[in-house]
Amino acid sequence: MLLREFLRNPLGIAAVTSSSLAMATQLSVAIPESGEPVVVELGAGTGACTGVIQHRLNGRGRHIAVEVNPTFAKLLSKRFPRVDVVCGEAKDLPKFLADRRAQAAEVIISTLPWEPFAPSSAQRPLLETLVESLDRNGAYTQAAYTVTRWAPPARRQLRQLQASFEEVVVSETIWRNVPPARVYIARRPRNDLRLH
Ligand SMILES: C[S@@+](CC[C@H](N)C(=O)[O-])C[C@H]1O[C@@H](n2cnc3c(N)ncnc32)[C@H](O)[C@@H]1O
Repeated sequence: MLLREFLRNPLGIAAVTSSSLAMATQLSVAIPESGEPVVVELGAGTGACTGVIQHRLNGRGRHIAVEVNPTFAKLLSKRFPRVDVVCGEAKDLPKFLADRRAQAAEVIISTLPWEPFAPSSAQRPLLETLVESLDRNGAYTQAAYTVTRWAPPARRQLRQLQASFEEVVVSETIWRNVPPARVYIARRPRNDLRLH
């Protein structure tokens, strides 16, 4: 199904295969093992990471999955009835949180492509919006394909992360993922952020 939707919208989907279990596990490392965290998953697709996040939460906290593609969102709701699936755009996360009376997310997990992060004079940089939606002790994890690591949009994304967080750790390459990928794990958001 991911492949079919990729053929319709290659830049918006940006992957022909789902994340591997190893990748989903690495993306979920920032979810605390205790407490009732609010976890936001951006670009949930067909749910490759959704099940791993649910497993890690083990009934605790809240899991909000944001997915722009209505076909995927419908599928996710069916597959994961305990997940709060929102069919919408990542840039509207503050509204989705407010609608649910959630002040901030403890963890944001993103497998979004570069497209929504592309600079635009008309829109606020997406990362600024995400940082503002994070708890001050929160963490943000982002998938990044190893093969395109040196492409300008990938370098810009890493620079923006380093400007937005006090700490950014880059994982080892996950070779079992197709294509091989790394995960950026960013902690301690800087709240005086302006990326323009
Ligand atoms: C690379 S796929 C990842 C799918 C899945 N999470 C995985 O790891 O296999 C990216 C997903 O992000 C979704 N997406 C793209 N732009 C988005 C946006 N602005 N807001 C929310 N979802 C978006 C796409 O529809 C697609 O399902």
